[in-house]
Amino acid sequence: MDNNNYTPPLGYKALTPFYDLVIRYLTRESAWRSALVKQINPLPGDRILDVGCGTGSLLAVLAEQCPEADFIGLDPDIGALERASKKLNSPNVRLIPGFLSKEAVPKGWQPTKITSSLMFHQVALEKKSEIAKIMRSLLIPDGELHIADYAMQKSPLMRAAFRMTVQQLDGVEDTKHNAEGILEKILVAPGYLTEKTLSFPTATGSISLFKAKFVAS
Ligand SMILES: C[S@@+](CC[C@H](N)C(=O)[O-])C[C@H]1O[C@@H](n2cnc3c(N)ncnc32)[C@H](O)[C@@H]1O
Repeated sequence: MDNNNYTPPLGYKALTPFYDLVIRYLTRESAWRSALVKQINPLPGDRILDVGCGTGSLLAVLAEQCPEADFIGLDPDIGALERASKKLNSPNVRLIPGFLSKEAVPKGWQPTKITSSLMFHQVALEKKSEIAKIMRSLLIPDGELHIADYAMQKSPLMRAAFRMTVQQLDGVEDTKHNAEGILEKILVAPGYLTEKTLSFPTATGSISLFKAKFVAS
């Protein structure tokens, strides 16, 4: 990706210090994040890439659960990565500044699993499918993609919650497509074997988990 525009973790750089607290108390974080960790199921020998790792909350739990796996967190936001590095003092977790690209990870380091939490909704429409394609190209042939994000907001209550919280901070342009179901469209496409595994109603809208594998083309 050559575009340097991105939305910081809580919409504005000045709010990054409050990110972890807001996510913990407003998104039922312990429920969806622990379900995501269970779904990822890190195993010894796994190479796991967290795209848009932000302040490192997911990597911290994954690395604690499986110190024998190898992790890379990627994020363009230096402030968020500084916070992540304070949380993560494990030699098997590397943090790399930048956007996802085929060259973003070290040569020869092919992920067995790629994960991304709360990143896709902040990304411009044309980049969402581009990121999914790059993820697919990076994974080993039988690799897995695990995503947690605001996807389709089915009920009026969840749409209103999303509008009053996430869209106030992250803006409407990039986020509206998620609320209308773009993730479901991108991930349920030819070549993808995708399950929407769980959805968590929260005060900020519904957060859904996806697990995808790819059919060899
Ligand atoms: C809402 S935060 C989520 C952070 C973390 N994954 C979590 O679950 O708490 C979204 C993160 O995605 C990052 N981001 C935005 N666009 C990105 C891109 N194209 N590639 C990688 N990261 C990106 C932002 O810098 C931000 O830290």
